[in-house]
Amino acid sequence: MPLVVREMALEEVGLVIDYFHRSTPEHLETLGVDPTRLPGRREWRGRYDAEYDKPLEQRATLLVIWEEDGAGVGFSTADKIVHGEQAHMHLHVVDEQRRGSGIGAACVRKTVALYFEALKLRRLFCEPNAFNVAPNRALQSAGFRYVKTYKTVPGPINYHQAVTRWVIEAEPPTATA
Ligand SMILES: CC(C)(COP(=O)(O)OP(=O)(O)OC[C@H]1O[C@@H](n2cnc3c(N)ncnc32)[C@H](O)[C@@H]1OP(=O)(O)O)[C@@H](O)C(=O)NCCC(=O)NCCS
Repeated sequence: MPLVVREMALEEVGLVIDYFHRSTPEHLETLGVDPTRLPGRREWRGRYDAEYDKPLEQRATLLVIWEEDGAGVGFSTADKIVHGEQAHMHLHVVDEQRRGSGIGAACVRKTVALYFEALKLRRLFCEPNAFNVAPNRALQSAGFRYVKTYKTVPGPINYHQAVTRWVIEAEPPTATA
C-alpha cells in the first residue's frame, strides 16, 4: 500500500508524545535529546491543543504523519517557522523494524512538498545530530544540500551538540515569458 503523508490531526499527536516518552535513553542520546527536557505528557498535549487552535499562518509548529497500510509509522514536525520564508523539519520512523527500508527518504520527499505548499516556504532546513548517520543520509537521498557542521542547542528538548545543517530550496522562478 502506498505511503500516505498528510497533516497530523490533533487526535493523533499522541504518536509524537509517546514516541519520545517511550524512547530508551540510548535512542534519545542518538537524537541529541535530553530526557530531562521533555515536557510531561499532559503539558505537551496542552501545547498542541493551543497550536491547533491557531490559523496556519500563526503556527509555531506543524505536524505531519507518515502512514503505511493505514498505520502511523512515522512523523515529521516543522518548527522555527517564518511563514512564507523558512522552517526547520524533524523526521522520525517510529517503528524501528521499518527503518532502513527506504521509507524515511520517501516520506521526507513527500513531507518537503507538503511543508513548501502549506507554509509557502522558500527554504527548509534540517539539522540532525552530526553523529546520527541515518537522517544525514536520508536527507541527502531526499535532495537536501549540505551546508555546514557546527555546535548548537538545536531546540528546547536538546542538549548542546554538533549538528549537520542541510537545506532544500524552492525552485527559482524560470524566465519563461
Ligand atoms: C532518520 C530516519 C527517518 C531515516 O529513515 P530510514 O527509513 O531509516 O532511511 P532510508 O531507508 O530511507 O535510507 C535513506 C538513506 O540513508 C541510509 N541509511 C539509513 N539508515 C542508515 C544507518 N543506520 N546507517 C547508515 N546509513 C543509513 C540508507 O542506506 C539510504 O542511503 P542511500 O540513499 O545512499 O541508499 C530513520 O532512520 C529514523 O527514524 N531514525 C530514528 C530517528 C532519527 O534519528 N531522527 C532524526 C532526528 S533529526
